[in-house]
Amino acid sequence: MIAYDSDLVGLDVSSLQGFFVGWPTPPSAAQHLAALRGSHQAVLARDSVTGRVVGFVNLISDGVLTAFVPWLEVLPDYQGQGIGTELMRRILAHAKAAGFYSVDLACDPELRPYYERLGLRPLQGMGMRYYGALRSEG
Ligand SMILES: CC(C)(COP(=O)(O)OP(=O)(O)OC[C@H]1O[C@@H](n2cnc3c(N)ncnc32)[C@H](O)[C@@H]1OP(=O)(O)O)[C@@H](O)C(=O)NCCC(=O)NCCS
Repeated sequence: MIAYDSDLVGLDVSSLQGFFVGWPTPPSAAQHLAALRGSHQAVLARDSVTGRVVGFVNLISDGVLTAFVPWLEVLPDYQGQGIGTELMRRILAHAKAAGFYSVDLACDPELRPYYERLGLRPLQGMGMRYYGALRSEG
């Protein structure tokens, strides 16, 4: 069974293993934890049996009108069970309850139908990446 919560108290780097699958230089678990703690809101999905964090989503915001979802990931062994959908549903509900005007995110074209099912609509976008900012463990 999967349990969802937004309580980051007691969360440590050892609970955040296995994410950023396929990244040549993934962020360190310490960066991951700091990003969650620095967010306006984050939602974690945990395996109730093992306590392991198996998915997460976070929301950054100006706190008044706009918000952005930079990260959504479910560990490969747990994908296809509706966990990502539930994480998104909860973070969107939080944004709506907070009274925000917009929630934006960037995604590859193949994921558009996934987000459209959650009510999002396509936008045009631009971005900058500083890959040197990513710190692997070690
Ligand atoms: C995208 C992701 C979060 C979905 O999580 P999940 O828990 O497996 O999703 P759900 O079980 O709620 O939904 C599964 C549906 O999403 C679709 N889906 C998942 N990943 C997809 C992808 N990369 N491209 C297209 N569709 C995808 C599945 O085909 C499935 O569709 P179906 O319901 O019609 O069978 C997960 O695949 C993941 O972590 N991917 C790697 C990180 C990533 O791409 N994050 C999104 C960044 S924008």
